[in-house]
Amino acid sequence: MESSKIPAAATPVAVVTGATSGIGREAAIALARKGFWTAVIGRGAERAARAAREIGAAVPTARVDGFGVTDLARMSDVRRLASELQTQYPRIDLLVNNAGALFAGRSLTDEGVERTFALNVLSPFLLTSLLLPTLRASPRGRVVNVSSDAHYRQHVDFDDLQLDRGYRGFRAYGRSKLELLLLTREFARRLEGTGICVNAVHPGLIRSAFGQNNPGMYGRAFRLLTAVFGRSPRKGAEAILFVATDPGVGDVTGAYFSHHRVAPGSEPSRRTADASRLYRICCTLTEAPELPGLDSAAGS
Ligand SMILES: NC(=O)c1ccc[n+]([C@@H]2O[C@H](COP(=O)([O-])OP(=O)(O)OC[C@H]3O[C@@H](n4cnc5c(N)ncnc54)[C@H](OP(=O)(O)O)[C@@H]3O)[C@@H](O)[C@H]2O)c1
Repeated sequence: MESSKIPAAATPVAVVTGATSGIGREAAIALARKGFWTAVIGRGAERAARAAREIGAAVPTARVDGFGVTDLARMSDVRRLASELQTQYPRIDLLVNNAGALFAGRSLTDEGVERTFALNVLSPFLLTSLLLPTLRASPRGRVVNVSSDAHYRQHVDFDDLQLDRGYRGFRAYGRSKLELLLLTREFARRLEGTGICVNAVHPGLIRSAFGQNNPGMYGRAFRLLTAVFGRSPRKGAEAILFVATDPGVGDVTGAYFSHHRVAPGSEPSRRTADASRLYRICCTLTEAPELPGLDSAAGS
């Protein structure tokens, strides 16, 4: 980690995962411009430090720290990152869980978890859980989870959360974004009254490196699709910034934002009992501390 000092109490602190490219990088730049002391999380200390330096050069008034991780799909790395962040910052005001990917083929992390589920679901879940004490130290703690309209037409299969059967890249990705949205809603319910707001956002179809980790057809198809229909990463970042900082959003929590307004999300994304069940499974899988539940969570 490359850093200078601990932020003054008046300077809000933002943490952005996947901030070395695409939407996350633009979000980090925009947050730095808005006066956030920004922690840039990237794969590898060197890349994170370089991104922090480049953002610092683009926004001369900015304070930007780089934090390297090897692989956010590994819970041991998430734990290490959370501990480094907590050592560096007594207070975190905004956590943007942006890192995510689609994997055309099924594979397991070296911790034995299906990679899409590990990166897009368990990782933001665990990072949020571990950083809650530091977010609570802020008068206005905010978590923004980058989900996707790809969650529509998907359902959660509790008997096969890691797609042992019938793995398809887009199916695994869409389900993971649905699960992230369910967890967003469950965190919001469990954190009611604490001042911490947790929301999810669809950034739009964006021209970025998304999908390029896949060789062959998948990578080419994404490049073509986003080249024709995609918007710039800056537009995707604006969607995140809106949810994180717009005064009109106020204390809205547990919501799904698309095109700068609250959208209902799919019907399965509103199933309270499923959200609660998934939350508890994630606690078990990651050994995260469980927040007290609400009796009403057992309903619907
Ligand atoms: N692009 C779209 O149209 C679109 C639409 C809806 C939602 N989203 C979501 O938006 C978010 C950002 O995507 P993007 O479009 O900006 O794509 P991107 O350019 O590929 O950025 C993804 C970021 O996540 C990081 N990342 C991926 N796997 C990681 C891992 N295992 N450990 C640590 N970091 C990892 C990447 O790091 P590296 O640079 O090292 O790979 C990169 O910084 C994702 O959650 C994606 O699902 C994108």
